[in-house]
Amino acid sequence: GAQVEEDVLSEDEKMEIVERAVANAKPFDIADTMVTLATRPEFGDYQINAALGLSRALKMSPHECAGLIVEKLLPVIYEYMEEPEIAGPGFINLRFKNDYLAAATSQMAADATGRLSLPETKKKEKIIVDFSSPNIAKEMHVGHLRSTIIGDTLCNLLEFVGHDVIRLNHVGDWGTQFGMLVEHLRDEYPAALSAESSANVDLGDLVELYKAAKKRFDADPDFKIKARECVVQLQAGNDDEVAAWKALCAASRVEYQKIYDMLNIRGLVERGESFYNPYLNDVVSALESQRFAVESEGTLAVFLDGYKNRDGTPLPMIVRKSDGGFNYATTDLAAIRHRVEFEVEGGGEKADRVLYVTDAGQSQHFNMVFEAAKQAGFVPENSSLEHVSFGLVQGADGKKFATRSGDTVKLKDLLNEAVRIASEDICQRSENDCVSKEILGRVAKTVGIGAVKYADLSMNRESNYRFSYERMLSLNGNTAPYMLYAYARICGIIRKSTGQKDEKPIKWPEASEIIITEEAEVELMRNLAHLPDILLEVERDLYPNKICDYLFETSQKFNKVSFSSSCDTRKSEVDMR
Ligand code: ARG
Repeated sequence: GAQVEEDVLSEDEKMEIVERAVANAKPFDIADTMVTLATRPEFGDYQINAALGLSRALKMSPHECAGLIVEKLLPVIYEYMEEPEIAGPGFINLRFKNDYLAAATSQMAADATGRLSLPETKKKEKIIVDFSSPNIAKEMHVGHLRSTIIGDTLCNLLEFVGHDVIRLNHVGDWGTQFGMLVEHLRDEYPAALSAESSANVDLGDLVELYKAAKKRFDADPDFKIKARECVVQLQAGNDDEVAAWKALCAASRVEYQKIYDMLNIRGLVERGESFYNPYLNDVVSALESQRFAVESEGTLAVFLDGYKNRDGTPLPMIVRKSDGGFNYATTDLAAIRHRVEFEVEGGGEKADRVLYVTDAGQSQHFNMVFEAAKQAGFVPENSSLEHVSFGLVQGADGKKFATRSGDTVKLKDLLNEAVRIASEDICQRSENDCVSKEILGRVAKTVGIGAVKYADLSMNRESNYRFSYERMLSLNGNTAPYMLYAYARICGIIRKSTGQKDEKPIKWPEASEIIITEEAEVELMRNLAHLPDILLEVERDLYPNKICDYLFETSQKFNKVSFSSSCDTRKSEVDMR
């Protein structure tokens, strides 16, 4: 052992190690390779830091080792890269050749499909994204808004990359609270408890209904008993109770849909907690038969290493309550099983990745559920379960997000307010221009809703996020209005320089060879060439703010390029200051 390691490597052996490193260091494929995007512009486009690690094994200085790597790399990259530079002790910097950048950029522009010539992934996966997931008969809150925006964006990106994406809405449509709700309906809206008439009953404001039911539940012991009995009837599938439950779900669905329509969210498949109800017994008996779940103070619970209460006692994950009912964790265990084993009954494949987009407050829940599912053998080796967690939404002052009077903010009001402010802003700016009502409405919606979405996406999702209309609607900085302005300006330039009339000209002039006339153009093209790497990073790490940062940087670089005033509307038509 130790003796052999001390032996000096032969030249051949050294070369073999270097060759292996080089094979792993192909630019354009930063996944699983030693190449990373350069951390600073002066380092070029990519950097390879492997020489430092390899030098020990090779028994030579990092600088020498870097020299060897470069020697091996040259024949592979010389067509599109400048001669690599070895910096400091042995960092290798790689920089695209200008000719290559020009060719790559015009190829991107020439792709009429809008894919910018980007290839689809070679490793197509089935990815389930569990996001949005509001609770029936309760208000959809800002946390759900965040989940919806981040989840939908990740789905779009993963689909663009070429994966098979399923958007699942894990709505909270099951649980003991339905007992009190249905029992309340029995008295207040009896028609809801009949399969014939329940579809036509208007339940009014569901949040008020919930509050009223809760009040009775807390105050009236008789009502409480009846509510409990009602849960049993519902669980047993009794027609009347099921009809009322369905009416509640339908009414909530109408409310959620309004928000999804405003945000332009499509393709969400509702797969509520109730869906997994028939599987819960199986899950629990699987855990029990493995002796993995054990009796604990009347409940059935799983204990996992490393999870403790504040006082140091072991923290149970309860899978069956003392009254025999199941809970949130049990449902999630059943959901995992279903997603990695059966989800695709028709399609025959299993989910390779399951992503859960919820607030960081649920991290412990997901960590425990994932761990338990793995230990119980519910998760195949190559399926991964990932919690895409995000921070709290706070008011502009950093305090709890609420209206001035301290009430919770309704999402509909929040989105409408963003559109209203955007509209006011546009009116002020276009004082002398006659903007039609129709255009004003459309632009205000694009800017207002876009601002809310972009503000959320452009923050590192793990941080708490301060909601400020002023900041998100500002024209300066990494905001939706700035990005939309850049987009509008680019459209204007293409339109004027090509004579296209469409509002959104996407057709690049045919036969457009790129002739570099200034350094700003090179900088812009370098940025464009990094797009595949950014997509790979987001596909892997699931941080949408990396795309926002990238787009912001690209727009800034675009704004440094000079255009002849005959085709640029920057200073003349649109004054955005
Ligand atoms: N309904 C839950 C909530 O409002 C979110 C559900 C997230 N998904 C899951 N599989 N647990 O907090």
